[in-house]
Amino acid sequence: MACTCGLVLLSVLLLLPVAGASMPATVVRLNKAMLSHVSNIGKAPLQRALQVNVPDFLDQSGKELQLNRIQILDVHVPHLRLKFIADFGVRLLAVANFTVKVFRTPEPLVLKMPLALTADAQVAQSSVGTPVVSISACFSFFDSAVLLDGRNSTPPRLLTPMQKHIKAVLRNKVCLSVSNLVQDLNVHLGTLIGLNPVGPESQIRYSMVSAPTITNDYISLDVKPVLVLLGRPIVLPVSAAPFALPRHVGSKDAMATVVLSQSLFDAALLLLQKAGALNMDITGELKSEDNPLNTSSLGQLIPEVARQFPEPMPVVLKVRLGATPVAALHADNATLRLQPLVEVLVVTSNSAFRSLFSLDVVVNLNLQFSVSKVKLQGTTSVLGDVQLTVASSNVGFIDTDQVHALMGAVFEKPLLDHLNALLDMGIALPTVVNLYYVNPEVFVCEGFVMISSGLFYQR
Ligand SMILES: *[C@@H]1O[C@H](CO)[C@@H](O)[C@H](O)[C@H]1NC(C)=O
Ligand SMILES: *[C@@H]1O[C@H](CO)[C@@H](O)[C@H](O)[C@H]1NC(C)=O
Ligand SMILES: *[C@@H]1O[C@H](CO)[C@@H](O)[C@H](O)[C@H]1NC(C)=O
Repeated sequence: MACTCGLVLLSVLLLLPVAGASMPATVVRLNKAMLSHVSNIGKAPLQRALQVNVPDFLDQSGKELQLNRIQILDVHVPHLRLKFIADFGVRLLAVANFTVKVFRTPEPLVLKMPLALTADAQVAQSSVGTPVVSISACFSFFDSAVLLDGRNSTPPRLLTPMQKHIKAVLRNKVCLSVSNLVQDLNVHLGTLIGLNPVGPESQIRYSMVSAPTITNDYISLDVKPVLVLLGRPIVLPVSAAPFALPRHVGSKDAMATVVLSQSLFDAALLLLQKAGALNMDITGELKSEDNPLNTSSLGQLIPEVARQFPEPMPVVLKVRLGATPVAALHADNATLRLQPLVEVLVVTSNSAFRSLFSLDVVVNLNLQFSVSKVKLQGTTSVLGDVQLTVASSNVGFIDTDQVHALMGAVFEKPLLDHLNALLDMGIALPTVVNLYYVNPEVFVCEGFVMISSGLFYQR
């Protein structure tokens, strides 16, 4: 899990200009390995797209005019390669082998027609912040056709005009088919800006903030995450320290490298806090051996509690986060600091609450990340001691040292369970529909988290 810090330092030096310092920023870099993957999964849709209609061929060579129906039986794409073109987009190089049937009396003909195709596709940013691909140049070249069936009965003079007819049709239609395929792809890429859940009532949406950076090795997209609570975007407080996202980190062999800035985590935590998702109640119950949240066990530490409640009553802890938790991303470790106010209340016989005292609590947590499908998930564990100070008391003097042992015990586990359940929901990573992260590795670096991952498209 070590961060390749030398590389990171180098990349910070190589930095290109970045967007506003306070903006949560994310960089998605797609490498050559991703193009190879797309080439593999792209053959089948390309084959389908090339299955075009060919109009009948009017044979004027004989004594009588003969109309021959023509059908493409099959298109096989044995070869498809995609490569980056710096500052432009992607070049497609494909070979397609058409099996064409000509319905003809007395005997049908079957031809194989190989075709080489090249198309240059520009990758740009749409007005709504999605990537858009457009074909700017497309060429097709035919190799000589091979006659499979009907060799014996076909007059050779027919072959030339018929092939000319089929080639003329394909030359026009093939590039159109590729354009249509790219339009479908754009619809798919458009799902980048879809809303994905982050926590209760809260969502995240990514959109591109600038035109992509394209080199011969990768395409890099600057995407801005926007966090939404109850349908409204969260406005972030301006962060003091400007942070520049490195672009040139991570393994070049991975299909994708995703870099998430510290401010994304700040925003996500702010969102969880504003949604009240971090608040929790820890309830006591009587006659429970392992739940000391009752007035008799508290009364042993605080005499005034024993005096006010001679009969045992259950106690409730209301954990409220007034301040946003602070996440810190260091080289190799991530921590989370929570400062909840914990109110200790007695549940009286008529189900009313009576406040005993409240505590200012500081909990430092260790934060561990993992990626599952399309989500960055977290788990926490308590780091060091939970710190307590008395904020207010209705039961006189409280010896914090004594309360500490009890509170620590009742507080830590439910808090961790609650947080881990929340962090397990995770933050959706930038993706499009049906595209998943596979074999991801997560690196924590100073000020950002980097994910190096394969991608898998599930049809
Ligand atoms: C096209 O198919 C024919 C017949 O199956 C084969 O001989 C030829 O090599 C193929 N061409 C290409 C470019 O795959
Ligand atoms: C209070 O909590 C202690 C510690 O869990 C337990 O032993 C005791 O039975 C509880 N008292 C009542 C009345 O539930
Ligand atoms: C995390 O890393 C920072 C900087 O490298 C270091 O100062 C800190 O002690 C580390 N914390 C933990 C919990 O490992």
